[in-house]
Amino acid sequence: MSVNDDRNGASHAMWGGRFAEGPSAIMREINASIPFDKALWREDIRGSKAHVAMLAAQGIVGEDDARQIDEGLDAIAAEYERDGVPEDWSLEDIHMTVEARLTELIGPVAGKLHTARSRNDQVATDFRLWTLDAMQAAEAGLATLQRALVTRAGEHADTVMPGFTHLQAAQPVTLGHHLLAYYEMFRRDRSRFADARARADECPLGSAALAGTGFAIDRDATAEALGFARPTSNSLDAVSDRDFALDYLMAASQCALHLSRLAEEIIIWASQPFGFVRLPDTLSTGSSIMPQKKNPDAAELVRGHAGRIVGAATALMVTMKGLPLAYSKDMQDDKPPVFEAHGLLQLCLAAMEAMIADCSFNEARMREVAGAGHPTATDLADWLVRTHGVPFREAHHVAGAAVKAADEHGCDLADLPLDALQAIDGRIDESVRDLLTLDASVAARTSYGGAAPERVREQVAVAREALGMEDAR
Ligand code: ARG
Repeated sequence: MSVNDDRNGASHAMWGGRFAEGPSAIMREINASIPFDKALWREDIRGSKAHVAMLAAQGIVGEDDARQIDEGLDAIAAEYERDGVPEDWSLEDIHMTVEARLTELIGPVAGKLHTARSRNDQVATDFRLWTLDAMQAAEAGLATLQRALVTRAGEHADTVMPGFTHLQAAQPVTLGHHLLAYYEMFRRDRSRFADARARADECPLGSAALAGTGFAIDRDATAEALGFARPTSNSLDAVSDRDFALDYLMAASQCALHLSRLAEEIIIWASQPFGFVRLPDTLSTGSSIMPQKKNPDAAELVRGHAGRIVGAATALMVTMKGLPLAYSKDMQDDKPPVFEAHGLLQLCLAAMEAMIADCSFNEARMREVAGAGHPTATDLADWLVRTHGVPFREAHHVAGAAVKAADEHGCDLADLPLDALQAIDGRIDESVRDLLTLDASVAARTSYGGAAPERVREQVAVAREALGMEDAR
C-alpha cells in the first residue's frame, strides 16, 4: 500500500456514507437542484411547448418533429401529474429531467427542443412564471383576509375599545377602526405584489445562454404564448436578473410583518389581563399539563413565521449581491427561499383570515378597559379650546388638574362633581359632562380617517366596494 493509497483511503473514509464514491458523489449532490426545482415542472413544460411551437412557426424545426416533441411533452405532463416527478440527482435539474424523459419517449428528435435555448433563459422563464403565480396567490390570500377584517369592522363600527400608544391606553377608539388599520396595511401589501407583477411581466426566453442567438426566433411570439406582456430587452440582464424573486420576497416580508403585528395584537388581546378576544378552539391548543390553558399557537406561529420569511428575503439578497453578469450557479439557490416564503405566507394568510373571521370579541371588557385612566381628558381640553378660545396648552393644563382631582375623588373624570371641576376652572359648565363619556369621545373623532363610528362605517363601505363585496353599503 503506497502513501498515496493511504491518503485516498483516509479521505474516502472521512467522506464516508453517501460520499463513498468520492468527488463524483459530492458533485452530484451539491449540483442537484431537482429535489426542489421539480416544483417548476408545469412551468418548464409550458415554456418548452411555447418554445417548440415558435421554432416550428419560424421554420427552425420541422412541423413533424415539433408535433412529436409537443405530444411527448404532454405525455410527460400527464405522467408527472399522475406519479410525481422522479428525482434522479445525476440529471441535475427539472430541465434535464424533462429532456431525458422526452428522449426516452420520442428518441433523438427530442434533442431539437433545445435549439436556440439554454437552461439559463429556460430557468429564468420557468421561475418567473412560477413567481408571477405566487404573487397572484398572495394578492388573492390578502383579499380574503381583507374581507374578513372588513366584515368584522362593519359589525364593530360602534364597539368602544381602548386605543393605545406605548401600549398604554390613550384615547378610546372603535374596534372597527382598529381592524380597518390592518385592512389598510394589507391594501398596501396587495399593491406591492401587483407592482411586482407588473415589473416581472417580461419574458426572458430567447436570451439563450447569455448573448441571445443567431437563429431567427420570434421572442414576441413566445412571450405572448406564455402570457407575458413583452420579451426582456437585454439578454445578459434577462438570464441573471432575479429582481422578480426579490420583489416577491420583499413584498412577502412586509406582508409578513403586518401579519405578525396583527398576530401579536391577538396574542395580547387573548391574554387573561386583557381578555378582549376569545380565539376559536380550532385555532388554539390546550396545555398537556395545565388543563385550564388555551394557547394562541396559530397566532404565535404567524408571528414566528415572519422571521423565516424575512430570512428568506435576506438569503436571496446575500446570494445575489456579488454576482457578476451573467448566470452563475449560485443563482440556483434562488428557488428554496421563494418556495419556502410562499408556503409560509399563504399559510399565515389563511390562518389569520380564519382567526379574524371566527374569534369572538368581548365588548364589555374592551369598554371597561377603555374607560380606565380618564381617557377622555383630551375631550375636556378640546371643549375649553372650542367653547372658550383657551389656548390648547392652557386647556391641557386644566384637564390635567381635573384628572388629578378625579383620582383624588376616586371616580372617573366624567363623574367628577361639577363644583370640583369649576374649582379648577370657572369656565367649565354642566354641558361639558356629556362630552366626557366614552361614546361621546369616539363619536367626536369625526375628522377624515378618524375613529368615529360614522367615519368607520364610511370606510367599511369604501372597502367593501373595493373588494367587490356584495351589498356594499
Ligand atoms: N438548475 C439550474 C438553476 O437552477 C439551471 C441553469 C443551469 N445553467 C447552467 N449554465 N449550468 O439555476
